[in-house]
Amino acid sequence: MKLAIYPGSFDPVTYGHLEIISRASKLFDKLVVLVSVNPSKPSAFSIEERKQLLEEVVKAEGLTNVEIDSHEGLLIDYFNKRNADVIVKGLRALSDFEYEFQMAQANRKLCYKAETIFLTAKSENTYLSSSMVKQIAMFGGDVSDFVPECILDRITTRLKKD
Ligand code: PNS
Repeated sequence: MKLAIYPGSFDPVTYGHLEIISRASKLFDKLVVLVSVNPSKPSAFSIEERKQLLEEVVKAEGLTNVEIDSHEGLLIDYFNKRNADVIVKGLRALSDFEYEFQMAQANRKLCYKAETIFLTAKSENTYLSSSMVKQIAMFGGDVSDFVPECILDRITTRLKKD
């Protein structure tokens, strides 16, 4: 059984993440979407909230081989604990590449069997980011084109409060 881990901040999950989740779930027997901590990014949603949003989205999409989990330490420790085969990341533009390349190299240095596979985002999603969603929603803008409908109200209500 091939197990893939898709780690990220998912603060909050967007259509861009959902595209990668959906495509990766078809490539592997099981996909774990892992809410992880990015120490260089402040988060708006708690880890538990981000997990709940992802769980709802994955359920609504009927992706039965996708599990949602969280981990507050090193990705590679989780990867080893689950005896996973692959780390999946999404690439939106060339600007993502340098950072993602560094992370992939570092993870492989920490564990030689940690292969990272990149899925390139479809063109409609190349500009989309959680930070953009947060900024638009905080000022009361419409983010319905950016986040799945089943979590839209929760995201807008929650971000407007901040
Ligand atoms: O969605 P993001 O913020 O780009 O995801 C980055 C994330 C959370 C995957 C990365 O920061 C991470 O792996 N965090 C866990 C801690 C870790 O293992 N850091 C070393 C990576 S080389």
